[in-house]
Amino acid sequence: MPRKKPEVAVIMGSASDWETMKHAVDMLQMFGVACEHRIVSAHRTPDLLREFGRSAADRGMRVIIAGAGGAAHLPGMIAAHTWLPVLGVPIKTKSVDGIDSLLSIVQMPAGIAVGTLAIGEAGAKNAGLLAASIIGLGNATVRKKIEAFRKKQTETVLAQKLP
Ligand code: RP5
Repeated sequence: MPRKKPEVAVIMGSASDWETMKHAVDMLQMFGVACEHRIVSAHRTPDLLREFGRSAADRGMRVIIAGAGGAAHLPGMIAAHTWLPVLGVPIKTKSVDGIDSLLSIVQMPAGIAVGTLAIGEAGAKNAGLLAASIIGLGNATVRKKIEAFRKKQTETVLAQKLP
């Protein structure tokens, strides 16, 4: 069977972000949303960032998830180059636990939007979930998988017994 064309791009500023960002990819794969993932650095590969942002919609992307840490300019700069929805994941840093990443991503000026998620793994997972929900607006198969996931999650919590 031919591989589905990616609709979501998961990009990150460094290979060191992968341990966190793989959770976004896992989530998308769980919901059957085709995605691509790669390193795009705002500071170290600025020309690639521009090209990636400008071509993303024409290449068939519908959502971009961007994870970055420290002076985390990747989500905002990608958003500056595309009209697509951009979800930002602040990577937890060693120095200040990702507060630097969070503030760098969340404080966008009015007119260029980045939907900012939680710091670290929870943020990456929820970015994948949110991107799948956006794709699910026009895809009943994805929507049903999200509904089933939510139902199972609720049942699991309700069945939990405390000691
Ligand atoms: C950011 O700098 C990356 O997103 C990463 O979180 C951080 C550190 O990168 P490395 O020095 O580990 O490559 O651009």
